[in-house]
Amino acid sequence: NEGKLWGGRFAGGPSPELEALSRSTHFDWRLALYDIAGSHAHAKALRAAGLLSDAEEAELHRGLDVLSQRYVDGELLPDPGDEDVHGALERLLIEEVGPDVGGKLRAGRSRNDQIATLFRSYLLDHAVTIRGLVLDLVDAIAEQAERHLGESPAIMPGRTHLQHAQPVLLSHHLLAHAWALLRDADRLAEWRARVEASSPYGSGALAGQSLGLDPELVARELGFTGSIANSIDGTAARDFVAEFAYVTAQTGVDISRIAEEIILWATKEFGFVTLHDSWSTGSSIMPQKKNPDIAELARGKTGRLVGNLTSLLTTLKGLPLAYNRDLQEDKEPVFDSVDTLEVLLPAFTGQVATLVFDTERMAELAPQGFSLATDIAEWLVREGVPFRIAHEVAGACVRRCEGLGIELHELSDEQFAEISPALTPAVRDVLTVEGSVASRDGRGGTAPERVREQLGELRERVAAR
Ligand code: ARG
Repeated sequence: NEGKLWGGRFAGGPSPELEALSRSTHFDWRLALYDIAGSHAHAKALRAAGLLSDAEEAELHRGLDVLSQRYVDGELLPDPGDEDVHGALERLLIEEVGPDVGGKLRAGRSRNDQIATLFRSYLLDHAVTIRGLVLDLVDAIAEQAERHLGESPAIMPGRTHLQHAQPVLLSHHLLAHAWALLRDADRLAEWRARVEASSPYGSGALAGQSLGLDPELVARELGFTGSIANSIDGTAARDFVAEFAYVTAQTGVDISRIAEEIILWATKEFGFVTLHDSWSTGSSIMPQKKNPDIAELARGKTGRLVGNLTSLLTTLKGLPLAYNRDLQEDKEPVFDSVDTLEVLLPAFTGQVATLVFDTERMAELAPQGFSLATDIAEWLVREGVPFRIAHEVAGACVRRCEGLGIELHELSDEQFAEISPALTPAVRDVLTVEGSVASRDGRGGTAPERVREQLGELRERVAAR
């Protein structure tokens, strides 16, 4: 058991089959710099507790710096015999500074509190990166919203059940996606605040340590705002991983809802958007094709993000306290979620930023499908007609139009009057899509003024990032 972290009580080394099963360096090696940072902090705590001399502490920092540099240069690699990142780094440190000093660093810590700390540090950093990428996407959507909010704002058919419902501003629709993504960015920030306050270093294997080490010192050194109150919780809890996986899955779900619309909008039948050449792909056989692959990959990869969350929760369900080796299975899913979003978001943002909307086509379709029927009903209400009757009358207008194969604004004054004497020619004021959207002027509504205010509100929130 030469070079292993354990072995004293074992007569022989582990079987190759066990080693193959147990090994995690192929995925946890990405945590090496975080493990080294933890070791620097731990060395300080050991020195503060009088367990290292100044010279020993300095030698450990030097050795750890050498390992960091070699890692950054791509020269530091685990051996096949190393079980995990912690064991590999201890072996490499001892190779650098010798067993007398190198062998002192492990006192008072366990891989159980180490991994719980490193994993937090890693995710804290990537939460910053991902949050920035999400906010870039929010920016790109806000830009598109602003672009279509000029003199005569672009109007599109708003839908429920995928059926024409009421006309809305294109900008209003786009900003609905932006708000959802902004909440995802907020979730990441709130998650960070919670995780930052809970450094588990000092929890030991599960029961804490007996060497007079100061967990608060280590927490501060590693950039945490505080250390965890319960060492069992510190080594056994993985809700911080599951919550991170939830936020990344929710972000994927929110992106995939935009993706689905882009895919639909880019069809011949909708014809609402054209994709930029640099952000779409062709077909190897059909020369005319221009495919929304980014949107499709976003929709597809969201399945992975949701799967990763499910995988984690399933691992955690029913797991007794404290550390169990099952917990080693917590890393690959969330590493995958990080990698997936970090490669997906920039591409998705580029695609959204370069979408070209056919606003004429949208405007042409906006009043079709009797999407102004609610406007007739609400106009009647403003004329003093009870809504129950107004709803009936507007429905009768739709029925008449369906029979004649025309749209609501094509009914003549006489036909309106036949349907109901309350329908005077003034009803025509609301039978334009412009009149319809302008009338929805309560807070949160689709009237151009409200949407401009909304865009300002969103921009302020993003600026406060
Ligand atoms: N590599 C392990 C993990 O990722 C940490 C090691 C804990 N191993 C142990 N036998 N206590 O969870």
